[in-house]
Amino acid sequence: MKPKVFLAYPIPREVEDFIAEHCDYRKWDSEETISRSQLLKEISDVDGLLISGGKIDQELLDFAPKLKVVSNVSVGYNNFDLAAMKARKVMGTNTPNVLDETVADLVFGLILATARRISELDRYVKDGKWQSGIDDHLFGVDVHHAKLGIIGMGRIGEKIVRRAKYGFNMDVLYYNRKRKLAAEKNLGVKYCTLQELLQESDFVVLMIPLTAETTHLIGREELALMKKTAIFINTSRGQTVDEEALIVALEKGDIRGAGLDVFEQEPVDPSNPLLKMPNVVALPHIGSATVKTRFDMAMLAAQNLVKAVSGEIPPNLVEE
Ligand code: DGY
Repeated sequence: MKPKVFLAYPIPREVEDFIAEHCDYRKWDSEETISRSQLLKEISDVDGLLISGGKIDQELLDFAPKLKVVSNVSVGYNNFDLAAMKARKVMGTNTPNVLDETVADLVFGLILATARRISELDRYVKDGKWQSGIDDHLFGVDVHHAKLGIIGMGRIGEKIVRRAKYGFNMDVLYYNRKRKLAAEKNLGVKYCTLQELLQESDFVVLMIPLTAETTHLIGREELALMKKTAIFINTSRGQTVDEEALIVALEKGDIRGAGLDVFEQEPVDPSNPLLKMPNVVALPHIGSATVKTRFDMAMLAAQNLVKAVSGEIPPNLVEE
């Protein structure tokens, strides 16, 4: 008998076919995200669950007595209660590596869009406001030769550095829990404290996983250290930033602007003041959302799922 799995997240047909070769599966067949109550109903008899981002906690585990693995279609796994999963011997997997370049591209998209006011001026043209040459109050700031500060020097951080150094001649500072001597030597990035990075950078990019330690890492005090001309970019997780403090800093002009792919609450509430600010570029959590990368992530998640329900160690087992 094949192992049973439930696919709670839409995946391409070809990936579904791969799962079908190895497992009996049911899937959530709607464009709407599956509700928690529906998810709990679907998992009572399954060995494996494929999902992207729903909370995997004690309650869910209690509804799934046979569960062996939860395969996340994302690199972030802050939705896992790892202690509860470990106690029940349920494996968790993620999809690292395949999205690194794609997320780095988006970080640069946000840097350029905020610095050169691309979304704001796109609206300006489409609203018919372009009557003559543009006034200097609409000028942007240069990205090339500016100072970039990256908080979190993991795989994606390094991809951002390559773009910054080789494409834009930027000077790059980084802050990380552990120093990355190889990156310093090979890429010419400079390690500094978080405080120095915030004080000196023209662009501050947050590229860290969400953990208890990194929740609200950037708050009122940190924003106050940034230059008034600095631009803040976040493509990690919304909860790494105290959003209230960010709103105040932007309203008071303590920083110049922000490029945000993530929010404390997602989907973001349409009444969120950040969405009314012309100096904020807001995106719907699309860091990895290209056709190829989302395909690769789905395939990797499927491979993790199949390995684990077949009694093998999946390639991307999350361990801490
Ligand atoms: C991830 O993989 O964690 C991304 O945030 C999803 O786009």
